[in-house]
Amino acid sequence: MSTIHPFRSDFPILSRLVHNKPLVYLDNGATTQKPLCVIEKEKEYYSLINSNIHRGVHHLSQLATNEFEAVRETVANFLNAAKTEEIIFTKGTTDGINLVAACFGRTFLNEGDEVLISTMEHHSNIVPWQMVCEERKAVLKVIPMHASGELDMEAFDQLLTERTKIVSVVHVSNTLGTVNPIEYIIKKAHQKGVPVLLDAAQSVSHFTQDVQKLDVDFLVFSSHKLFGPTGVGVLYGKSEWLNKLPPYQGGGDMIKEVTFEKTTYNVLPHKFEAGTPNIAGVIGLGEAIKYVQQVGFSTIEKLENDLLHYATAELLKIDGLKIYGTAKEKVSVISFLLAGIHPFDVGTILDQLGIAVRTGHHCTQPLMNYYGIPGTVRASFSFYNNREDVDTLVAGVKKAQQMLS
Ligand code: ALA
Repeated sequence: MSTIHPFRSDFPILSRLVHNKPLVYLDNGATTQKPLCVIEKEKEYYSLINSNIHRGVHHLSQLATNEFEAVRETVANFLNAAKTEEIIFTKGTTDGINLVAACFGRTFLNEGDEVLISTMEHHSNIVPWQMVCEERKAVLKVIPMHASGELDMEAFDQLLTERTKIVSVVHVSNTLGTVNPIEYIIKKAHQKGVPVLLDAAQSVSHFTQDVQKLDVDFLVFSSHKLFGPTGVGVLYGKSEWLNKLPPYQGGGDMIKEVTFEKTTYNVLPHKFEAGTPNIAGVIGLGEAIKYVQQVGFSTIEKLENDLLHYATAELLKIDGLKIYGTAKEKVSVISFLLAGIHPFDVGTILDQLGIAVRTGHHCTQPLMNYYGIPGTVRASFSFYNNREDVDTLVAGVKKAQQMLS
Protein backbone atom coordinates (compact mmCIF):
# COMPACT_ATOMS: atom_id res chain seq x y z
CA MET A 1 0.00 0.00 0.00
CA SER A 2 1.56 3.30 -0.97
CA THR A 3 1.14 6.61 0.83
CA ILE A 4 0.44 9.78 -1.13
CA HIS A 5 3.62 11.65 -1.89
CA PRO A 6 3.30 15.42 -2.41
CA PHE A 7 5.75 15.68 -5.34
CA ARG A 8 6.03 12.27 -6.98
CA SER A 9 3.37 12.96 -9.59
CA ASP A 10 5.35 15.99 -10.82
CA PHE A 11 7.83 13.52 -12.39
CA PRO A 12 6.23 11.60 -15.28
CA ILE A 13 9.00 8.98 -15.53
CA LEU A 14 8.32 7.74 -12.00
CA SER A 15 5.09 6.12 -13.12
CA ARG A 16 6.66 3.96 -15.83
CA LEU A 17 7.41 0.26 -15.63
CA VAL A 18 10.87 -1.28 -16.05
CA HIS A 19 11.00 -5.02 -16.79
CA ASN A 20 7.29 -4.99 -16.06
CA LYS A 21 7.83 -3.70 -12.53
CA PRO A 22 7.16 -0.17 -11.23
CA LEU A 23 10.36 1.86 -11.56
CA VAL A 24 12.21 2.46 -8.29
CA TYR A 25 14.70 5.14 -9.27
CA LEU A 26 17.61 5.28 -6.83
CA ASP A 27 20.31 6.63 -9.12
CA ASN A 28 19.83 10.31 -8.38
CA GLY A 29 23.57 10.78 -7.82
CA ALA A 30 24.09 10.00 -11.49
CA THR A 31 21.24 12.18 -12.69
CA THR A 32 17.95 13.42 -11.28
CA GLN A 33 14.59 13.02 -12.97
CA LYS A 34 12.85 16.00 -14.54
CA PRO A 35 9.53 17.47 -13.44
CA LEU A 36 6.91 18.01 -16.12
CA CYS A 37 7.35 21.81 -15.96
CA VAL A 38 11.01 21.46 -17.10
CA ILE A 39 10.07 19.08 -19.94
CA GLU A 40 7.28 21.44 -21.04
CA LYS A 41 9.56 24.49 -20.85
CA GLU A 42 12.08 23.00 -23.28
CA LYS A 43 9.25 21.98 -25.60
CA GLU A 44 7.80 25.50 -25.40
CA TYR A 45 11.19 27.01 -26.22
CA TYR A 46 11.62 24.86 -29.33
CA SER A 47 7.97 25.24 -30.37
CA LEU A 48 7.70 28.99 -29.95
CA ILE A 49 10.95 30.93 -29.68
CA ASN A 50 13.82 28.80 -30.97
CA SER A 51 16.42 31.28 -32.17
CA ASN A 52 20.04 32.17 -31.57
CA ILE A 53 20.86 34.60 -28.76
CA HIS A 54 22.91 37.83 -28.60
CA ARG A 55 22.96 37.96 -32.40
CA GLY A 56 19.71 39.03 -33.99
CA VAL A 57 17.59 42.14 -33.99
CA HIS A 58 14.64 39.99 -34.90
CA HIS A 59 11.83 39.30 -32.46
CA LEU A 60 12.55 35.64 -31.74
CA SER A 61 16.24 36.28 -31.10
CA GLN A 62 15.32 38.95 -28.61
CA LEU A 63 12.80 36.70 -26.86
CA ALA A 64 15.39 33.90 -26.64
CA THR A 65 18.09 36.31 -25.41
CA ASN A 66 15.78 37.71 -22.75
CA GLU A 67 14.78 34.26 -21.49
CA PHE A 68 18.39 33.07 -21.49
CA GLU A 69 19.68 36.11 -19.62
CA ALA A 70 16.77 35.96 -17.15
CA VAL A 71 18.04 32.51 -16.15
CA ARG A 72 21.43 34.02 -15.35
CA GLU A 73 19.61 36.19 -12.80
CA THR A 74 17.65 33.23 -11.49
CA VAL A 75 20.92 31.33 -10.96
CA ALA A 76 22.59 34.35 -9.35
CA ASN A 77 19.69 34.61 -6.89
CA PHE A 78 19.69 30.87 -6.31
CA LEU A 79 23.39 30.94 -5.34
CA ASN A 80 23.15 34.40 -3.74
CA ALA A 81 25.90 35.69 -6.03
CA ALA A 82 26.73 39.37 -5.63
CA LYS A 83 26.66 40.00 -9.39
CA THR A 84 24.86 38.36 -12.30
CA GLU A 85 28.05 38.53 -14.41
CA GLU A 86 29.62 36.05 -11.97
CA ILE A 87 27.44 33.30 -13.44
CA ILE A 88 29.00 31.51 -16.42
CA PHE A 89 27.03 28.87 -18.31
CA THR A 90 29.04 25.74 -19.07
CA LYS A 91 28.36 22.22 -20.31
CA GLY A 92 28.39 20.89 -16.76
CA THR A 93 30.50 20.42 -13.65
CA THR A 94 33.33 18.74 -15.54
CA ASP A 95 33.46 21.59 -18.04
CA GLY A 96 33.50 24.16 -15.22
CA ILE A 97 36.40 22.49 -13.42
CA ASN A 98 38.34 22.13 -16.67
CA LEU A 99 37.79 25.82 -17.33
CA VAL A 100 39.13 26.90 -13.94
CA ALA A 101 42.00 24.39 -13.97
CA ALA A 102 43.14 25.44 -17.45
CA CYS A 103 42.76 29.21 -17.00
CA PHE A 104 43.94 29.39 -13.40
CA GLY A 105 46.80 26.99 -14.11
CA ARG A 106 48.02 28.93 -17.13
CA THR A 107 48.04 32.14 -15.11
CA PHE A 108 48.98 31.24 -11.56
CA LEU A 109 50.71 27.84 -11.44
CA ASN A 110 54.47 27.62 -11.72
CA GLU A 111 57.07 24.96 -11.08
CA GLY A 112 56.82 23.58 -7.54
CA ASP A 113 53.44 25.19 -6.77
CA GLU A 114 50.81 22.94 -5.25
CA VAL A 115 47.15 22.23 -5.92
CA LEU A 116 45.24 20.66 -3.03
CA ILE A 117 42.37 18.22 -3.62
CA SER A 118 40.99 15.35 -1.49
CA THR A 119 40.91 11.55 -1.49
CA MET A 120 37.18 11.47 -2.23
CA GLU A 121 37.23 13.57 -5.40
CA HIS A 122 35.35 12.50 -8.51
CA HIS A 123 37.67 11.98 -11.48
CA SER A 124 36.47 15.32 -12.86
CA ASN A 125 38.13 17.09 -9.93
CA ILE A 126 41.34 15.07 -10.23
CA VAL A 127 42.24 14.70 -13.89
CA PRO A 128 41.95 18.37 -15.01
CA TRP A 129 44.29 19.35 -12.17
CA GLN A 130 46.69 16.51 -12.97
CA MET A 131 46.80 17.67 -16.58
CA VAL A 132 47.52 21.29 -15.71
CA CYS A 133 50.02 20.33 -12.97
CA GLU A 134 51.93 18.26 -15.50
CA GLU A 135 51.94 21.15 -17.96
CA ARG A 136 53.06 23.71 -15.37
CA LYS A 137 55.38 21.36 -13.39
CA ALA A 138 53.19 21.89 -10.33
CA VAL A 139 52.38 19.24 -7.73
CA LEU A 140 49.00 17.70 -6.87
CA LYS A 141 48.53 17.14 -3.14
CA VAL A 142 45.73 15.08 -1.61
CA ILE A 143 43.92 15.57 1.71
CA PRO A 144 43.65 12.11 3.31
CA MET A 145 40.51 10.81 4.99
CA HIS A 146 39.30 8.55 7.77
CA ALA A 147 37.53 5.22 7.16
CA SER A 148 34.22 6.89 8.11
CA GLY A 149 34.50 8.92 4.92
CA GLU A 150 35.40 12.17 6.72
CA LEU A 151 38.39 14.24 5.67
CA ASP A 152 41.41 14.33 7.97
CA MET A 153 41.34 18.02 8.84
CA GLU A 154 44.57 17.94 10.83
CA ALA A 155 46.30 16.66 7.73
CA PHE A 156 44.58 19.41 5.73
CA ASP A 157 46.04 22.03 8.07
CA GLN A 158 49.51 20.58 7.46
CA LEU A 159 49.09 20.33 3.70
CA LEU A 160 47.97 23.93 3.30
CA THR A 161 51.25 25.81 2.92
CA GLU A 162 52.87 28.76 1.16
CA ARG A 163 53.23 26.50 -1.87
CA THR A 164 49.46 25.90 -2.14
CA LYS A 165 47.99 27.98 -4.96
CA ILE A 166 44.42 26.66 -5.02
CA VAL A 167 42.23 24.20 -3.08
CA SER A 168 39.64 22.30 -5.12
CA VAL A 169 37.32 20.07 -3.13
CA VAL A 170 34.02 18.31 -3.39
CA HIS A 171 31.18 19.64 -1.25
CA VAL A 172 29.35 16.30 -1.04
CA SER A 173 30.96 13.00 -2.01
CA ASN A 174 29.05 11.32 -4.86
CA THR A 175 30.08 7.90 -3.54
CA LEU A 176 29.86 8.31 0.23
CA GLY A 177 27.39 11.14 0.70
CA THR A 178 29.79 12.93 3.09
CA VAL A 179 29.21 16.66 3.47
CA ASN A 180 32.67 18.16 3.81
CA PRO A 181 33.48 20.96 6.32
CA ILE A 182 33.80 23.47 3.56
CA GLU A 183 33.40 26.56 5.75
CA TYR A 184 36.53 25.55 7.68
CA ILE A 185 38.45 24.74 4.49
CA ILE A 186 37.59 28.12 2.95
CA LYS A 187 38.41 30.05 6.12
CA LYS A 188 41.80 28.36 6.50
CA ALA A 189 42.65 28.70 2.81
CA HIS A 190 41.75 32.39 2.79
CA GLN A 191 43.97 33.01 5.81
CA LYS A 192 46.80 32.01 3.50
CA GLY A 193 45.39 33.95 0.53
CA VAL A 194 44.50 30.71 -1.31
CA PRO A 195 41.30 30.56 -3.40
CA VAL A 196 38.89 27.61 -3.14
CA LEU A 197 36.89 25.87 -5.86
CA LEU A 198 33.87 23.97 -4.64
CA ASP A 199 32.51 21.04 -6.65
CA ALA A 200 28.84 21.35 -5.77
CA ALA A 201 27.62 18.73 -8.28
CA GLN A 202 26.24 16.52 -5.51
CA SER A 203 25.23 19.16 -2.98
CA VAL A 204 23.19 21.50 -5.14
CA SER A 205 20.04 19.34 -5.13
CA HIS A 206 20.14 18.63 -1.40
CA PHE A 207 20.59 21.95 0.38
CA THR A 208 20.94 25.71 -0.12
CA GLN A 209 24.13 27.15 -1.59
CA ASP A 210 25.09 30.67 -0.54
CA VAL A 211 28.31 31.70 -2.24
CA GLN A 212 28.58 34.99 -0.37
CA LYS A 213 28.07 33.40 3.03
CA LEU A 214 30.57 30.66 2.16
CA ASP A 215 32.88 33.29 0.67
CA VAL A 216 33.84 30.65 -1.89
CA ASP A 217 35.88 31.77 -4.91
CA PHE A 218 34.57 29.32 -7.52
CA LEU A 219 31.62 26.93 -7.42
CA VAL A 220 30.49 24.52 -10.13
CA PHE A 221 27.41 22.37 -10.64
CA SER A 222 25.44 20.58 -13.36
CA SER A 223 21.85 21.28 -14.28
CA HIS A 224 20.99 17.60 -14.74
CA LYS A 225 21.69 16.89 -11.08
CA LEU A 226 19.27 19.66 -10.14
CA PHE A 227 16.22 18.30 -12.02
CA GLY A 228 17.17 20.27 -15.14
CA PRO A 229 18.34 19.23 -18.63
CA THR A 230 21.67 17.55 -19.41
CA GLY A 231 24.50 19.38 -21.18
CA VAL A 232 24.28 22.55 -19.09
CA GLY A 233 26.15 23.64 -16.00
CA VAL A 234 27.11 26.68 -14.02
CA LEU A 235 30.43 28.11 -13.00
CA TYR A 236 30.16 30.77 -10.33
CA GLY A 237 33.33 32.79 -9.84
CA LYS A 238 34.02 35.95 -7.87
CA SER A 239 34.37 38.66 -10.48
CA GLU A 240 37.80 39.66 -9.15
CA TRP A 241 39.01 36.12 -9.91
CA LEU A 242 37.22 35.71 -13.24
CA ASN A 243 38.59 39.04 -14.42
CA LYS A 244 42.13 37.86 -13.67
CA LEU A 245 41.75 34.69 -15.76
CA PRO A 246 42.33 34.51 -19.53
CA PRO A 247 39.48 33.25 -21.76
CA TYR A 248 39.06 29.47 -21.93
CA GLN A 249 37.96 28.89 -25.52
CA GLY A 250 37.99 31.24 -28.48
CA GLY A 251 35.02 31.82 -30.75
CA GLY A 252 31.88 33.85 -31.23
CA ASP A 253 30.36 35.85 -28.35
CA MET A 254 33.55 35.90 -26.26
CA ILE A 255 35.15 38.67 -28.35
CA LYS A 256 34.87 42.45 -28.46
CA GLU A 257 36.75 43.00 -31.71
CA VAL A 258 38.55 40.61 -34.06
CA THR A 259 41.17 41.44 -36.66
CA PHE A 260 43.75 39.06 -38.11
CA GLU A 261 46.38 40.94 -36.11
CA LYS A 262 44.68 41.01 -32.72
CA THR A 263 41.50 40.11 -30.87
CA THR A 264 40.12 41.86 -27.82
CA TYR A 265 37.87 39.98 -25.46
CA ASN A 266 34.35 40.55 -24.24
CA VAL A 267 33.53 41.38 -20.63
CA LEU A 268 32.14 38.93 -18.07
CA PRO A 269 30.27 36.65 -18.36
CA HIS A 270 30.57 36.43 -22.17
CA LYS A 271 34.38 36.18 -22.07
CA PHE A 272 33.94 32.55 -20.95
CA GLU A 273 30.99 31.61 -23.19
CA ALA A 274 32.38 30.99 -26.68
CA GLY A 275 29.96 29.76 -29.33
CA THR A 276 26.24 29.15 -29.31
CA PRO A 277 25.33 27.80 -25.87
CA ASN A 278 22.73 25.20 -24.96
CA ILE A 279 19.94 27.78 -25.00
CA ALA A 280 17.08 25.35 -24.45
CA GLY A 281 19.04 23.66 -21.68
CA VAL A 282 19.71 26.92 -19.86
CA ILE A 283 16.03 27.87 -20.11
CA GLY A 284 15.13 24.42 -18.77
CA LEU A 285 17.58 24.91 -15.90
CA GLY A 286 15.84 28.18 -15.00
CA GLU A 287 12.54 26.30 -14.75
CA ALA A 288 14.15 23.55 -12.64
CA ILE A 289 15.47 26.13 -10.18
CA LYS A 290 12.04 27.74 -9.90
CA TYR A 291 10.56 24.30 -9.25
CA VAL A 292 13.11 23.51 -6.52
CA GLN A 293 12.50 26.88 -4.91
CA GLN A 294 8.76 26.16 -4.86
CA VAL A 295 9.32 22.82 -3.15
CA GLY A 296 11.83 24.47 -0.80
CA PHE A 297 15.06 23.09 0.60
CA SER A 298 13.63 22.74 4.11
CA THR A 299 11.04 20.30 2.72
CA ILE A 300 13.66 18.55 0.58
CA GLU A 301 16.01 18.11 3.54
CA LYS A 302 13.21 16.78 5.76
CA LEU A 303 12.07 14.20 3.18
CA GLU A 304 15.59 13.09 2.30
CA ASN A 305 16.77 12.81 5.92
CA ASP A 306 13.87 10.52 6.65
CA LEU A 307 14.82 8.33 3.66
CA LEU A 308 18.50 8.30 4.63
CA HIS A 309 17.84 7.20 8.20
CA TYR A 310 15.14 4.70 7.34
CA ALA A 311 17.15 3.12 4.50
CA THR A 312 20.35 2.99 6.58
CA ALA A 313 18.56 1.23 9.45
CA GLU A 314 16.75 -1.24 7.17
CA LEU A 315 19.81 -2.10 5.07
CA LEU A 316 21.95 -2.66 8.16
CA LYS A 317 19.51 -5.38 9.27
CA ILE A 318 20.83 -7.50 6.37
CA ASP A 319 23.61 -9.87 7.50
CA GLY A 320 26.90 -9.27 5.73
CA LEU A 321 25.95 -5.83 4.40
CA LYS A 322 28.51 -3.10 4.96
CA ILE A 323 27.92 0.59 4.34
CA TYR A 324 30.82 2.70 3.05
CA GLY A 325 30.48 6.31 4.19
CA THR A 326 29.28 6.75 7.75
CA ALA A 327 30.10 10.43 8.21
CA LYS A 328 28.08 12.35 10.77
CA GLU A 329 27.22 14.91 8.12
CA LYS A 330 25.91 13.14 5.05
CA VAL A 331 23.17 13.40 2.44
CA SER A 332 20.85 10.65 1.19
CA VAL A 333 23.49 8.53 -0.57
CA ILE A 334 24.19 4.98 0.62
CA SER A 335 27.07 2.94 -0.79
CA PHE A 336 27.23 -0.67 0.31
CA LEU A 337 28.60 -4.14 -0.37
CA LEU A 338 27.34 -7.61 0.44
CA ALA A 339 30.13 -9.84 1.76
CA GLY A 340 31.59 -12.04 -0.96
CA ILE A 341 29.31 -10.71 -3.72
CA HIS A 342 30.36 -8.45 -6.57
CA PRO A 343 28.42 -5.15 -6.70
CA PHE A 344 27.73 -5.57 -10.42
CA ASP A 345 25.85 -8.84 -9.77
CA VAL A 346 23.70 -7.18 -7.11
CA GLY A 347 22.95 -4.28 -9.46
CA THR A 348 21.95 -6.66 -12.25
CA ILE A 349 19.44 -8.49 -10.06
CA LEU A 350 18.05 -5.21 -8.72
CA ASP A 351 17.59 -4.02 -12.29
CA GLN A 352 15.48 -7.08 -13.08
CA LEU A 353 13.24 -5.96 -10.21
CA GLY A 354 12.86 -2.46 -11.67
CA ILE A 355 15.30 -0.91 -9.19
CA ALA A 356 17.87 1.51 -10.65
CA VAL A 357 21.07 1.85 -8.60
CA ARG A 358 24.61 2.61 -9.69
CA THR A 359 27.32 -0.02 -9.30
CA GLY A 360 31.07 0.26 -9.79
CA HIS A 361 33.71 2.78 -8.82
CA HIS A 362 31.45 5.81 -9.34
CA CYS A 363 34.29 7.70 -11.10
CA THR A 364 36.19 7.72 -7.79
CA GLN A 365 38.83 5.06 -8.36
CA PRO A 366 41.34 6.51 -5.84
CA LEU A 367 38.58 6.33 -3.19
CA MET A 368 37.93 2.67 -4.07
CA ASN A 369 41.69 2.03 -3.82
CA TYR A 370 41.68 3.63 -0.38
CA TYR A 371 39.03 1.14 0.79
CA GLY A 372 40.63 -1.70 -1.21
CA ILE A 373 37.37 -2.58 -2.97
CA PRO A 374 36.44 -2.80 -6.67
CA GLY A 375 33.32 -0.71 -6.26
CA THR A 376 30.05 -0.48 -4.38
CA VAL A 377 26.32 -0.61 -4.94
CA ARG A 378 25.06 2.95 -4.53
CA ALA A 379 21.49 3.91 -3.77
CA SER A 380 21.07 7.67 -3.99
CA PHE A 381 17.72 9.13 -2.94
CA SER A 382 15.93 12.28 -3.91
CA PHE A 383 12.99 13.96 -2.23
CA TYR A 384 10.58 12.28 -4.67
CA ASN A 385 11.52 8.82 -3.42
CA ASN A 386 9.47 7.29 -0.63
CA ARG A 387 9.69 4.63 2.05
CA GLU A 388 8.10 2.10 -0.31
CA ASP A 389 11.13 2.57 -2.58
CA VAL A 390 13.36 1.76 0.39
CA ASP A 391 11.31 -1.36 1.21
CA THR A 392 11.53 -2.54 -2.40
CA LEU A 393 15.30 -1.96 -2.39
CA VAL A 394 15.79 -3.88 0.85
CA ALA A 395 13.68 -6.81 -0.39
CA GLY A 396 15.65 -6.75 -3.67
CA VAL A 397 19.01 -6.79 -1.88
CA LYS A 398 17.86 -9.75 0.24
CA LYS A 399 16.76 -11.59 -2.87
CA ALA A 400 20.10 -10.86 -4.59
CA GLN A 401 21.94 -12.15 -1.55
CA GLN A 402 19.92 -15.39 -1.56
CA MET A 403 20.46 -15.91 -5.27
CA LEU A 404 24.20 -15.12 -5.26
CA SER A 405 25.35 -16.74 -2.01
N1 ALA B 1 29.05 11.75 -11.05
C1 ALA B 1 27.86 11.01 -11.32
C2 ALA B 1 27.66 9.88 -10.35
O1 ALA B 1 28.16 9.92 -9.27
C3 ALA B 1 27.78 10.57 -12.72
O2 ALA B 1 26.99 8.93 -10.66
